[in-house]
Amino acid sequence: MAKSLSSLIVGDTLETLKGLPDDSCDVGVTSPPYNKQEKQKGWLVKNVKYANVSDVKDEKIYQQEQIQVLNELYRIIKPGGSFFYNHKIRWERGVLLHPFSWVAKTHWACRQEIIWDRQIAANIRGWRFWQVDERIYWLIKPINGNKIGEELESKYAKQTSVWRFPPERKNPHPAPFPLNLPLRCIAATTKEKGVVIDPYCGGGTTLVAAKFLNHDSIGVDMSEAYIEMSQERLNNYLSEQKEFENEIAKHQVEKTFKQRKEEGMNVGKFSPEKVKVRKSQSARNREQQEAQSRPLW
Ligand SMILES: C[S@@+](CC[C@H](N)C(=O)[O-])C[C@H]1O[C@@H](n2cnc3c(N)ncnc32)[C@H](O)[C@@H]1O
Repeated sequence: MAKSLSSLIVGDTLETLKGLPDDSCDVGVTSPPYNKQEKQKGWLVKNVKYANVSDVKDEKIYQQEQIQVLNELYRIIKPGGSFFYNHKIRWERGVLLHPFSWVAKTHWACRQEIIWDRQIAANIRGWRFWQVDERIYWLIKPINGNKIGEELESKYAKQTSVWRFPPERKNPHPAPFPLNLPLRCIAATTKEKGVVIDPYCGGGTTLVAAKFLNHDSIGVDMSEAYIEMSQERLNNYLSEQKEFENEIAKHQVEKTFKQRKEEGMNVGKFSPEKVKVRKSQSARNREQQEAQSRPLW
């Protein structure tokens, strides 16, 4: 098997992306800084502070920058390719800030909004129901205007639009996502050996996923310390073999879409058996009603 190569770049994301060629990557996965205003701590989870960059910006400037970054990525990803953008709903003085409000202003076609159920809340006060979800936008670069793209294999589609796994805890980076997340995104959308990009790579989780799946990768981060962390993780990626296997074990199906359809499986209330049961039930109900409405004399 050919070796996979990783390029790690210390630098500002937007400036670095501007220097990368058009149509040069196959897929990308990222979780950018969330502009969480470092002053406001969660109750259960430690305050997120990055080594080399502040996570406090004017919200308008932040959103504008994210649009620019996503549009640069659109230029860099090949036609037909995907980009997965992990973000969350935030509130600023009671006003809801939804990531789709700026994702919708980019060149990308949004193929799906996936809910990541992290199963743990950062803040357990009662200002609102505990927020355990984050979002993952599956974005595609259409070929000839086709925004539908190729059908997923059954083993990936059955993962559903709600992904349920906890956040990463072992990694020393302040805000890593778990290996499951980039593994699922990349495996579902990229079969041939290709190039995977993470423009805010942090501790290198996406790059490790790319390596396990035998792709080349590009990671960018402002912090030299996180880039070193990524390099170290890539050198020792086999120590994460168990996490890799746990996710890949979920990518199995007993029957494909075609087999299920042929056998009348999984068509909910329209399965032939359920329709038969309903028909005989309503025939019995009709008989009962007729009997009850018959005059007694
Ligand atoms: C949410 S973390 C990414 C974590 C990563 N997914 C992982 O699993 O380790 C966001 C990263 O963006 C980096 N960052 C923030 N602003 C940046 C910028 N303008 N240019 C490059 N990197 C930046 C931070 O240093 C941080 O590592």
